[in-house]
Amino acid sequence: MPKYKVKYICQNCGYESLKWFGSCPQCGVWGSFVEKAPPLILDHTVAEGSISTLSEALAGEEESRILVGIEEFDRVLGGGLVKGSVCLLGGEPGIGKSTLLLQVAGSLSSRGNKILYVSAEESVRQVASRARRLGIFSDSDNIYMVSESDLDRVLEMARALPIDLIVIDSIQTVKVSSIETIPGSLPQVRECAQRVFSFAKDREIPAFMVGHVTKEGAIAGPKLLEHLVDVVLYFEGDKRTQYRALRAVKNRYGSTLEVGIFEMTSKGLEEVKDPSAIFLSGLDGVPGAAVGVVMEGERPLVVEVQALVAPTFFPYPKRVAQGFDFNRLQLLIAVLEKRVGIPLGKYDVYLNIVGGLKSSDPALDVPVCCAIFSSYRELSIKGDGVFIGEIGLLGEVRPVSFVSRRLSEARRLGFRVAYIPKVGEELKIGEMELKSFVFLKEMFESMEEGR
Ligand SMILES: Nc1ncnc2c1ncn2[C@@H]1O[C@H](COP(=O)(O)OP(=O)(O)OP(=O)(O)O)[C@@H](O)[C@H]1O
Ligand SMILES: [Mg+2]
Repeated sequence: MPKYKVKYICQNCGYESLKWFGSCPQCGVWGSFVEKAPPLILDHTVAEGSISTLSEALAGEEESRILVGIEEFDRVLGGGLVKGSVCLLGGEPGIGKSTLLLQVAGSLSSRGNKILYVSAEESVRQVASRARRLGIFSDSDNIYMVSESDLDRVLEMARALPIDLIVIDSIQTVKVSSIETIPGSLPQVRECAQRVFSFAKDREIPAFMVGHVTKEGAIAGPKLLEHLVDVVLYFEGDKRTQYRALRAVKNRYGSTLEVGIFEMTSKGLEEVKDPSAIFLSGLDGVPGAAVGVVMEGERPLVVEVQALVAPTFFPYPKRVAQGFDFNRLQLLIAVLEKRVGIPLGKYDVYLNIVGGLKSSDPALDVPVCCAIFSSYRELSIKGDGVFIGEIGLLGEVRPVSFVSRRLSEARRLGFRVAYIPKVGEELKIGEMELKSFVFLKEMFESMEEGR
C-alpha cells in the first residue's frame, strides 16, 4: 500500500497543513484541526445490491414527499418534505425557529404523522407551554417530546418509536459522549450532524436540525455542516417588525428562489398569503420614497424603497444600506454623480427597504435611484407611480425579466403609472400608463415635469 504523509485539515475552513495547529492559521478557529483521512482506495469487489441502474432507481422511487400543510413552508421546500432528507434551519436568536418547527410538527401531526421533537435547550414543560400558546393540542398524541442533550440516547429512543419526522433543537446543544469537547464545538457539531444524517437516511424519514448563527449571520459550526445536509433554510427578518421570511439557501430537491413570508403573532407564526402590501409604508407623497416590484421566485412583491440624502459634515460621506447590497448602492451613487450630475459626494445617503425585506433583484436599481433623487430634490413622487429597471454604468435603464408580471401585480395594488425601461415590443397593462425610458436622466426630467 502506498505511504501517505499525514496531513491535517481544519474542519471549519478546510485549510490543510503537514503540521498540527491549535488554532487555524487561516480562519483563526481553535481546536478545529483533525488528521485527514488517506485517500480512499476503491475495492473492485462491489457488494451485492449496492449498485443499481438509473431505471431501477426510478422504478423504486415512489412519491417520497410529505406535505407539511403550511403552504408557505411547503413551497420553500420545493413541494413538501422529502423522505430521508436532512434540513438545517438557521436564524438569529429569538427569531422564531423553535416556534416554526413546533408548528410544522403540529401541522404534520394533525395529518396523522408521528414526530419526535427533541429539545436540548428547553425543558419539556417550556416546549409544552409554547405548544399550548400555539394551539397545538388536537393530535398531540402524535408528538413525542424529549428534553435531552445526549444524542446517542436520543437516537436510541428514536429507533424505538414509529416516527415520520425527527426535530433536533438545536444541533449546537446536543453532544455525543465519545467526543470530549463541549456541545457546540466543531468536532461535536460535525459528529452529531453526521449521526442525525445517517439516522435519517437509514430510516428514510426527514430530519430537521436547528442551527445557531454566528455574529456574521452564518450558521455556526463547521462549513461542512452546510455541505452535508440536503436543505439549508434561513429564517430571517427585522426583529422590530412582526414579519419573517423563510428562505432556502441550498436545496437539493427544489429551487432556492422561493421565499415564504410569515407574521409573528401572539398565537405563533401566521402565513402571509398576500405579502405585497406589507412592504409599503402607506405614506403618500413624502420625498425620498419610490415603489418598485421585486421577484421572489415566481412571486412579484411590491416594495417601497426609502432614501434620505442629507448634507455631510465629514470628509467622507456616509452610505448606509438596509435590505439592499451596499456595493450596489455605491455603484448607483457613482452613476447618479457622473451620469446625472447629482453631487452626492457632499451628501450622506441612507437607504432602506420597508418591512425588513432583503433583495438583490436588479429591478430595484431604478426605484433606489429615484428614491435618492426624490430625497435630494425634495420632490415627492405621486403615490400611484411604480418604478422598474436595472441601471447600467452609462446611466441607461436596462430591461429586466418578468416586466409584465411585475406590472400586473402593481396594477392589482392600485398603481396607475409605471416608469419602465424601453423595450422593443409595446407593453399593455389595462388602465396603466406606461412611461418608458432609455436613460435615467430622461426619467428624472419626466418626473420633474409630471409633478
Ligand atoms: N407569549 C408570547 N406572545 C407573543 N409572542 C411571543 C410570546 N412568547 C414568545 N413570543 C415570540 O416568539 C419569539 C421566540 O421564538 P422562538 O423561541 O421560536 O425563537 P428561536 O429562534 O427558537 O430562539 P432561540 O434561538 O433562542 O432558540 C420571541 O422573540 C417572540 O417574538
Ligand atoms: Mg429555540
